[in-house]
Amino acid sequence: MTMTKPLKFSKSLKSDALQKALAEYRPGLALPRAFYKDPDIFQLDMRHHVLAHWHCAGHVSMVKNPGDFFTIEIGGESIIITRGSDNEVRGLLNMCRHRGSRVCNKSEGHAKNGNFVCPYHAWTYDCSGELQRARLMPADFKKSDYGLLQVQTRVAEGMIFITFAENPLGFKHIDETFSKSAKVYGWATAKFAARRTYVIEANWKLVEENYQECYHCGPAHQEYSLRHTFAKPQAERVPGDTAMCARDEALGIPLGDVDAANEVAEPGQEGADCVRSAMTNGYVTGSRDGKPVAPLMGDFKGKDYDGGFSFIDVGPTANFVAYPDYTLIYRTVPLTVDKTIFELIWLVDEHAEEGKDYKVDDLIWMWDYTSIEDKGIIEMNQAGVNSAFYEPGPYTPMEVDAQRYTQYYIDTMSKL
Ligand code: FES
Ligand SMILES: [Fe+2]
Repeated sequence: MTMTKPLKFSKSLKSDALQKALAEYRPGLALPRAFYKDPDIFQLDMRHHVLAHWHCAGHVSMVKNPGDFFTIEIGGESIIITRGSDNEVRGLLNMCRHRGSRVCNKSEGHAKNGNFVCPYHAWTYDCSGELQRARLMPADFKKSDYGLLQVQTRVAEGMIFITFAENPLGFKHIDETFSKSAKVYGWATAKFAARRTYVIEANWKLVEENYQECYHCGPAHQEYSLRHTFAKPQAERVPGDTAMCARDEALGIPLGDVDAANEVAEPGQEGADCVRSAMTNGYVTGSRDGKPVAPLMGDFKGKDYDGGFSFIDVGPTANFVAYPDYTLIYRTVPLTVDKTIFELIWLVDEHAEEGKDYKVDDLIWMWDYTSIEDKGIIEMNQAGVNSAFYEPGPYTPMEVDAQRYTQYYIDTMSKL
């Protein structure tokens, strides 16, 4: 039982820019420029779209022991993810209840004596967010009224999700998608291996749209395309690789290029979906030489590579790429209207030892390389969209998921 308070947004913002941009939007076309440029729309995006959804902050192995913590930034907010002495994983707003200072300025670590001490006047909070000490306060000061504010937190298959919503969206469809499509990869007991951040000078929607389509993979990602059939048009992907499908069936993985977004999401909820696709011949995983980079995970242990991999997507910012020997958490994190980061977190089997069973450089090569390429093309996209002469163009069939995503975004914003 904690006295820590939940978050509460102040009253809703209004924006003429949003109404004007919505009026300009045409289904099937990219978004009008204001959606990628306007600071008021960005504030509305954060409040009503991004922060209202479930956002994957990281993995439980990043806070293995009580007192362990890491911090994340999103839309101007900072959250401390930490494990309390009661073993609960919590998300604490990194904002002192005295005069508002950030309490923690490290990206990860272990809280000394299980406490976070504000660097300004030394108010001291424990890992459940409760205020333990406040110097020289009057006798009637009630520490229990000044715990750190707290975001709602859920853990699914070891993945830590947070939401800033007072009344969170449902979680059932995320649990369902994970139990059907992610369980096989052994995420619940996986181990943190590496974390890298890429700063993109672009609006977060250009980053998310780019993630949602592989029309750009052929021209922009030659290394990725050599290894993944997903770079090909839909008709040439799964179930074209019958050998992979047979292996999937044996492992109990749902077959085919599954897009379950509308099947599992309830009305008004974010989508959760899994897309299966085959590796190209000669490549068993996302690695430089096509060979394994880490020990097999989950249900693959004692078996073999299945010749495939999965994209699992939840809501607007939480994406996962799973191979039999490693999983990547791919976080899209809006910072400001024209700055976004991708944060990539690599997970391996719990017993894998760095240096012996995997090398970080080999493990991260595929998606580090691809993310640096993505940074370049997304920044070019933003630079072009900034032109006074920009007009939204048509999506192609290979961009169906990006189109579905922008339509979903527009539907959400139209209801404000
Ligand atoms: S702002 Fe944190 S102790 Fe004063
Ligand atoms: Fe890309």
